[in-house]
Amino acid sequence: MATSRKSSGSSKTTLVSPQSYLKSARLKGSPTGKKIAHFFVLGAGQKSLAEKFAKKWAPNWQKESLAKSKRDVIHAVGSAGPVWIFSWEPQKGPVSHDGSFEDHAYGWHRDQLGSALSMLKAYQVDSLVIEFLSTGEDTERGAFVGLDMGAYTFRGTREQKEFADLPNLWLLKKNGSKTVEINKQLLTEAMLEARAVNLARHLVNTPPNEINPKTYSEFISREFSKLSGTTVDVWNEKKMRDEKMRLMLAVGQGAEHPPCLVHIRYRPKNNKAKPLAFVGKGITFDSGGLDIKPSSGMRWMKKDMGGSATIAGLAWWAISSDYPAPLDFYLAIAENSVDGKSFRPGDVIEARNGLKVEIHNTDAEGRLVLADALDVAVTAKGKDEPEMVINAATLTGACRVAVGAEIGGLFSNHDPLAKALHQAGAETSDFNWQLPLFSKYASTFSTPFGDLVNATDGFGGAITAALFLEKFVKQKPWAHLDIYAWADKASGALNSMGGNGQAVQCLIQFLKSKTIQL
Ligand code: BES
Ligand code: MN
Ligand code: ZN
Repeated sequence: MATSRKSSGSSKTTLVSPQSYLKSARLKGSPTGKKIAHFFVLGAGQKSLAEKFAKKWAPNWQKESLAKSKRDVIHAVGSAGPVWIFSWEPQKGPVSHDGSFEDHAYGWHRDQLGSALSMLKAYQVDSLVIEFLSTGEDTERGAFVGLDMGAYTFRGTREQKEFADLPNLWLLKKNGSKTVEINKQLLTEAMLEARAVNLARHLVNTPPNEINPKTYSEFISREFSKLSGTTVDVWNEKKMRDEKMRLMLAVGQGAEHPPCLVHIRYRPKNNKAKPLAFVGKGITFDSGGLDIKPSSGMRWMKKDMGGSATIAGLAWWAISSDYPAPLDFYLAIAENSVDGKSFRPGDVIEARNGLKVEIHNTDAEGRLVLADALDVAVTAKGKDEPEMVINAATLTGACRVAVGAEIGGLFSNHDPLAKALHQAGAETSDFNWQLPLFSKYASTFSTPFGDLVNATDGFGGAITAALFLEKFVKQKPWAHLDIYAWADKASGALNSMGGNGQAVQCLIQFLKSKTIQL
């Protein structure tokens, strides 16, 4: 294409990282404003208090019905402002899926308080007082994470007037009748977790004319190289050519900004363990390439860097929390564009690991960038050789068809790893479900013109995509999360459609609880 074409993505854009609403919370005193909202969060076994509270806070016309209410969330319109009473108890009844999809105190409070916070905007109160009454850690952590998730809305990339739309916040706690201080350590941890989720959401929400391989890698370099124990390496086009990353180069060759591999390397002091490696798909926009997508399929394809956003959020959390073990994070960033220089169906391209891939569909580009990036991760030598590798990717529409938007597809060649990831997802209500790596389906990849094709037309598209990736992990313990990365509408702590930070909480929990033997 003509070289004089105008830049579609300003390289001057300064991407910003979302801030924390909870950071401004006061932990003692009482509110000064005139319009005050109250949230009462009742610990387990305190349900009888709900009736008492409803009686005290509700206006006369509501008192009677609320006192009898069996609901877990009671909303009343009090005289000083709106009141919410949260009193959740674990449900009894038959259990399925090992209880993986049951409500837990963490997820329930995250979703309920987050959604109440977004509803609160309509009331325009100046203060919000949240009282925790004999609550446990999971409840409080869930509430804190939900509040910070609920506080996030996309406020653009250039100017941030943070939280002008939200009330001043008080977080108070009582155990029985005794006033105690909010657990500051827990509050700090929850703030870091929510911020990691919000960072992932924000990167996904940022429009594709603002976030491209250049601005994205600049943002990551700027934000991460100032963190301790961390170096950021950006492999540019030349370096990628030297490294024979031809699949990834092919995917990005039609775009204005060439692809790049961003490597965030974290090495805490005094830990000689093998690193864990994480890889994310970072297609800043997926037009489908020459196998162009129809408009309904292309519309939200700015979210196709969702896997890399999840890995960036996770990296930010781990480093900011001084995670004790070494970690490597790789973001495989490219734009899949239509151009005279674009790669074509029929092209045969040699991967970094030597396999010759015949392109059957330029829209199956995610597995191509991941193939080369996974190979970089698993071939790291000496002390850098990873113990295992986990990738996250908005890889297939077929996975969304199979498990829907709120559950990730989980694939793994290693059962203990799969179990640990599944459990971490269940514990954080950031769900995934294991799908089979059924190797027989890999036979559909064969071609007389190379070692394998990148796409087949058959059924089980999420499975075949995962089988393709498996060919690039050198039989290292590996797991792949096929995520949707997007909420189609507001739900729970997500107060509007957009990036949902899928798998960030799951992977944080996985790292926290990483005790499996490999
Ligand atoms: N990014 C898409 C997958 C996707 C689409 C995720 C919609 C979530 C929602 C991916 O690059 C893609 O286009 N995959 C194709 C693969 C096919 C050509 C073999 C798909 O899923 O249709
Ligand atoms: Mn695609
Ligand atoms: Zn894609």
